[in-house]
Amino acid sequence: MKFFIDTANLDQIREAQSLGVLDGVTTNPSLMAKEGITGEKNIIQHYFDICEIVDGDVSAEVISLDFNGMVKEGKILAALHPQIVVKIPMIEDGVKALKYFYDEGIKTNCTLIFSAGQALLAAKAGATYMSPFIGRLDDISTDGLSLIQEIRDIYDNYGFETQILAASVRHTMHIIECAKIGADVMTGPLSSIKGLLKHPLTDIGLAKFLEDYKKGN
Ligand code: G3P
Repeated sequence: MKFFIDTANLDQIREAQSLGVLDGVTTNPSLMAKEGITGEKNIIQHYFDICEIVDGDVSAEVISLDFNGMVKEGKILAALHPQIVVKIPMIEDGVKALKYFYDEGIKTNCTLIFSAGQALLAAKAGATYMSPFIGRLDDISTDGLSLIQEIRDIYDNYGFETQILAASVRHTMHIIECAKIGADVMTGPLSSIKGLLKHPLTDIGLAKFLEDYKKGN
């Protein structure tokens, strides 16, 4: 299972990278705005800076809603750095753009997936990754993890190579349940990744080991 961090915060990306378990980064316009990164030039530079920190894939989202605009933007983003994956929304022109980039050999991440039908379309169009937003489904009393299971079943039925990138992950249990289902990738905040470290018995056990070590010295 690949671990991506879902942020545009460079300090958090550096911290996750230093843990040695980071496989990539996802961002979106809201995450960029949260870091105060606005304006095309600054956003492009920020994507480049992220690529210089991590070794893996970095999703960079297009803003256009029409096919020609998505293709133009996606080409600029893809040319920026070999690690860039062009993030495309699940809308009609987005599906066309996914197919275009597939034919061009450019990696894509189809975002804003909320149903199995959308997941099927993304795979048919040749998306490299597709991002079901599990936290946002949970927010409206719909089981996000069930969608991950549904998509896993569908993709396995037909051997689709599109990777399931569980997004809108909010906490450690989302990560663990996604791993049990077999999501290929998860993207979440640093807190969800570091939360996996924690167990009170580890802390108690370590304190006891150190206490006993000191007794013997
Ligand atoms: O990866 C998608 C993500 O950025 C959305 O997360 O927490 O805003 O639903 P959230």
